[in-house]
Amino acid sequence: MAKPFYVTTPIYYVNARPHLGHAYTTIVADVITRFHTMRPAEVHFLTGTDEHGDKVVRAAKKENLSPRAYVDKISQLFRDLWPELNISNNYFIRTTDAAHMEIVSQILQKIYDAGDIYFSEYEGQYCFGCERFYTERELIDGKCPDHETVPETIKESNYFFKMSRYQDWLIDHIKQHPGFIRPERYRNEVLAFLREPLEDLCISRPKSRLKWGITLPFDENYVTYVWFDALLNYITALGFPDGELFHKFWPVAQHIVAKDILKPHGIYWPIMLKAAGIPIYQHLNVHGYWNIEQSKMSKSLDNVVEPLQLKNIYGLDAFRFFLIREMNFGLDSSFGESALVQRINSDLANDLGNLFSRIISMAHKYFKGRVPEVDPQAEQELGLDLQSGALKTIKEFESFMGSFEFHRALMAVWEFIRQMNKTIDVTAPWVLAKKKSSRKQLEAVIYHLLEGLRIISGLIYPVMPDTAKNMQKRLGLKPDDSFYHLDHLKTWKAIAPGTALLKSVALFPRIEIGEKAPDSAPQTQEEPAVLNIKPEITLDEFSRIDLRVATVVHAEQIPKAKKLLKLEVDMGQKRTLVAGIAEKYSPEDLIGKQVIIVANLKPAKLMGVISNGMVIAAVDDSGPTLATLEKLVAPGTPLK
Ligand code: MSP
Repeated sequence: MAKPFYVTTPIYYVNARPHLGHAYTTIVADVITRFHTMRPAEVHFLTGTDEHGDKVVRAAKKENLSPRAYVDKISQLFRDLWPELNISNNYFIRTTDAAHMEIVSQILQKIYDAGDIYFSEYEGQYCFGCERFYTERELIDGKCPDHETVPETIKESNYFFKMSRYQDWLIDHIKQHPGFIRPERYRNEVLAFLREPLEDLCISRPKSRLKWGITLPFDENYVTYVWFDALLNYITALGFPDGELFHKFWPVAQHIVAKDILKPHGIYWPIMLKAAGIPIYQHLNVHGYWNIEQSKMSKSLDNVVEPLQLKNIYGLDAFRFFLIREMNFGLDSSFGESALVQRINSDLANDLGNLFSRIISMAHKYFKGRVPEVDPQAEQELGLDLQSGALKTIKEFESFMGSFEFHRALMAVWEFIRQMNKTIDVTAPWVLAKKKSSRKQLEAVIYHLLEGLRIISGLIYPVMPDTAKNMQKRLGLKPDDSFYHLDHLKTWKAIAPGTALLKSVALFPRIEIGEKAPDSAPQTQEEPAVLNIKPEITLDEFSRIDLRVATVVHAEQIPKAKKLLKLEVDMGQKRTLVAGIAEKYSPEDLIGKQVIIVANLKPAKLMGVISNGMVIAAVDDSGPTLATLEKLVAPGTPLK
């Protein structure tokens, strides 16, 4: 086993529901964790929720709940979301956990006893949204840069942590450990900040103002303030100071955060660790922000994209792929639904999906769905170079994953996908199949292509675990973790000849809504079109789909969505649906029409409208054609 690996996400505030930004960081942590299982290494992946502070108290009040009931509810939303995004965290910490609170208290006492915490009066500009004081220099036009509100002047006595004492030490530490904060731009940002004298950190709030926190062990009239409580989660969750997990994983700790919390993680946290006599973490990995239509996405500006909606609409693996492929880790990215659809159609449906179905279909057509034998002489004559291409790809992939350049790791895999496609075009298996004398060549080509698919399925595993498993299953490989190990991927010819392959499927069906996707890559002329029947389901599974007859009572165009109509239908009760049929049907065409709908589809929000179900249509090159009944029946009648 390689060196263990420990990664954390920020623990998210519970004053708002989970959104795309939280999903991104947590998916990145999942991707890197899964990559480390491929080395293979023992991994520990921590996420959780940050539940104390006045923001939470105010949010709870707004919902007429006690802080306890409120934090339980929102924290549960995060815990419910992660399995739906295939997040493989080993532990979920809450700052309201008794064990966490107890250790925070012990560490505070230790630092207080060492003389690094003192009591003093402070007056400053306080932003309630951020729960922190701002220096004049940090404000933009006198306003909080995040909330765009004027902070209030607050004066109170509090406890302070002597950060200034450790400023020189921290500068030295960062300079001596070049990868400590990465990418480089954030390391430079922290070093630039440290050129100015460091102010001491206010770590408390009087209970008269805030009770929802951890009481200071040395003054029961105060609670500790957000960062001193929150940052310590990274070690309390490992059972600091004596836990086995702490000894195993803390020496290899890596944090992932976005640039918004660079300062607490790049400055407060290492200094807190130093003052408490705890070794410093290994790496702080900092990413940029997802912006939506050029504006910063946050809880307080009303343009938050719900990750679940996107995943429900486009599929989980496609959603994960888009986030990881589109963002250059460290820089900001813009989120756009049309960019997502474009990536699905070009990278996934066209490049990967097409390659996969072409090869599996050929194996079925020429070898009755069995992996062929390989004749060394035929192999040599053909001069196939997929093995060296695969090794080169794996090497690049490992290196980019290690340096958190995920988009480049995926680009390397897609380069190999292109090489595979080129191999098909150059060797033209359908020509080889025509002559008996070239049978051995045909076997060798198909075998090498199947091997190439195996390598691809392994390399996409961290980002698209379900697709990787699906490919593996269809390649006749047994579900087994060792299949993903890098050593196994580096071994060429691991698929046994004779192995039975499952039928081909469309891994990623093309999406026909949103912006026009690029034209399909030219299909090789002689290959028949693939029918792409989805995997079999049982009658029982089918009976879970509730199809009903509904009469359209109202229809209107959704502004700015040229393909979408908002329908009000009667199926015994009224329902609102969104249907992507506007290019073929105008609202007037539909009133009074009976359509068939999937009545128990999970609601999804499309262009701001909640759709409670889906209208069934046949979709071909000319667009959608609605499915209707031979004669009128009572609205709400089920289809069986
Ligand atoms: N509770 C603190 C963190 C304490 S960690 C010891 C906090 N919580 S938060 O809910 O505001 O989460 C901030 C983090 O959420 C960011 O650092 C980032 O990981 C993620 N993101 C929130 N919005 C984001 C974007 N728009 N884009 C990318 N990531 C973002 O800060």
